[in-house]
Amino acid sequence: MNKRIAVLLSGRGSNFLAISDNIRSGKLDAEIACVLSNVADAPGLVRARELGYDAIFLNSRGKEREDYDREVAKELRRRDVELICLAGFMRLLSPYLIREFPNRILNIHPALLPAFPGLHAQKQALEYGVKYSGCTVHLVDEGVDTGPIVLQAIVPVLDDDDEDRLSARILKEEHRIYSEAIDLVLRKRIVVSGRRVLQR
Ligand code: GRF
Repeated sequence: MNKRIAVLLSGRGSNFLAISDNIRSGKLDAEIACVLSNVADAPGLVRARELGYDAIFLNSRGKEREDYDREVAKELRRRDVELICLAGFMRLLSPYLIREFPNRILNIHPALLPAFPGLHAQKQALEYGVKYSGCTVHLVDEGVDTGPIVLQAIVPVLDDDDEDRLSARILKEEHRIYSEAIDLVLRKRIVVSGRRVLQR
């Protein structure tokens, strides 16, 4: 397996930057082949360009989901991408793209799945009243935040937390475990057995 990854994002891009920093500092043995976004002025895409990465804006406006994903797949194949890392990419993937990259798409979610899937996971956790939340890196399947779980990290929910404070505590863990999960996949250290992802 080569070590070429693509980061797909739609917004801020802090997970992308954490991955990039970990690669640059030698903590993660991988290569960012490209950063792709459906949002032209996404801060993460702008930053990727400034850092000299191959930064691709692919407009999704007016395109059917699968047609768009076929374009995405073409861009990624052209760059010999081995692993797709979704990092705040605000689009659902079509079954086509998932089948094109079987068990080779990761996503990070800011809650302990299967609790609080979908949008505003940190707000959902606060409103539910859980005492612990965290983040999950999972393989992407055809559901929303339902794929087999690779890694999770736990953080406490404190009495005086608001959404911002909880999100910041979770984000710190996201930045740590996303690179760890990428490393496990690239080094073929995981085996998928049904819903379980085992380390070998
Ligand atoms: C993160 O909270 C991630 O868990 C979720 O979207 C957010 C992206 O943040 N999927 P960033 O763009 O990486 O800063």
